[in-house]
Amino acid sequence: MKAKIGIVEGDYIGPEITKEGIKVLKAISEKYNFDLDLIYLEASGQAYDKYGEHLPKHTLDEASKCDALLKGPFGGPPEEINNPKWATVEKDAILGLRKYFNLYTNMRMVKTYKCLFNLSPLKEHLLNGVDILIVRELISGIYFGEKNERIVNGEREYSDSMTYKESEIERIAIKAFDYATKRRKKVTLIAKSNILKSSILWREVVNKVAKSYPEIENNYMHVDNAAMQLILNPRQFDVILTSNMFGDILSDEASVLGGSIGLFPSASLCDGKFGLYEPIHGSAPSIAGKNIANPTSSILSVALMLRYSLNLNKAAIDIENAVEKLLELGYRTIDIYTEFDDKNKLLGTREYGDAIVKQINGT
Ligand code: IPM
Ligand code: MG
Repeated sequence: MKAKIGIVEGDYIGPEITKEGIKVLKAISEKYNFDLDLIYLEASGQAYDKYGEHLPKHTLDEASKCDALLKGPFGGPPEEINNPKWATVEKDAILGLRKYFNLYTNMRMVKTYKCLFNLSPLKEHLLNGVDILIVRELISGIYFGEKNERIVNGEREYSDSMTYKESEIERIAIKAFDYATKRRKKVTLIAKSNILKSSILWREVVNKVAKSYPEIENNYMHVDNAAMQLILNPRQFDVILTSNMFGDILSDEASVLGGSIGLFPSASLCDGKFGLYEPIHGSAPSIAGKNIANPTSSILSVALMLRYSLNLNKAAIDIENAVEKLLELGYRTIDIYTEFDDKNKLLGTREYGDAIVKQINGT
């Protein structure tokens, strides 16, 4: 087998952590005996400097020839929000990639590691056994709805609309229920159907889809309550199904349960095998170039790529086990390091990647 993987390094810590993801991918390809063809693709800040645009056409053409993309985070420093290099980078490049490849299913897994319980603001008994899959709709809703600007009585009024079609809800609901059949068989739709029209449609369509899955418990929760329940009793969730905006917010919240947002990957999928794999966090300009960023999110993104795009579930589990083992042994990047814990051993970004590779190779 030959896997053609497009690499989109991203901005600030993006290249550093993606390099570690690639290191692990290479080690896995040797262990599991498949060929890798890595193609570096130009996007975000890097592409803007060269071409004056964040997602050039040639990048999309090259990416189309790949089996999957491994992407680092995009974005600039908050204080440079008006610099054209960064002002629209997320909208142009991230949303652009998601839309171009029809990546309507975004999966974000949040689990807790016993050895990191001390990093969470929640009490241990709440964290034990938390294992949540957030299935977030990714290419519609308020992110992509009509935007308007007008002047009303001499002042500016801007608007974004949250729009969903039945078919857009149905296809992601089917994904969520399918994943639930392989998990703890529970789907919780999170919306705001006491207020929002589009949320009423979500409920109706999801209830219809649920009829074909009698073995799956079909639950509903308003988003404000869900934000509270994620902290009060996170273990009650198995698969969370939600819209683009709510999924964005709830996935950041849920990552706190795990100890650091630097740990978590995501998979963005379409109907075929192609997928885009990326950390759920941003480009963290303030810690870039210091060899301190946590590369786990990129390394675990590689695991998801192996599972969902390359049909190599065993290799994916191998990586996930290596991450868990290293954490248990006390190896930490600075974001998850505890000074007063004698067992903790502080590693840099590169050294952490090397340690994962050693673990995978059993050396
Ligand atoms: C994410 C990010 C993006 C999103 C941003 C950077 C556009 O926050 O992947 O969660 O909102 O989808
Ligand atoms: Mg987000």
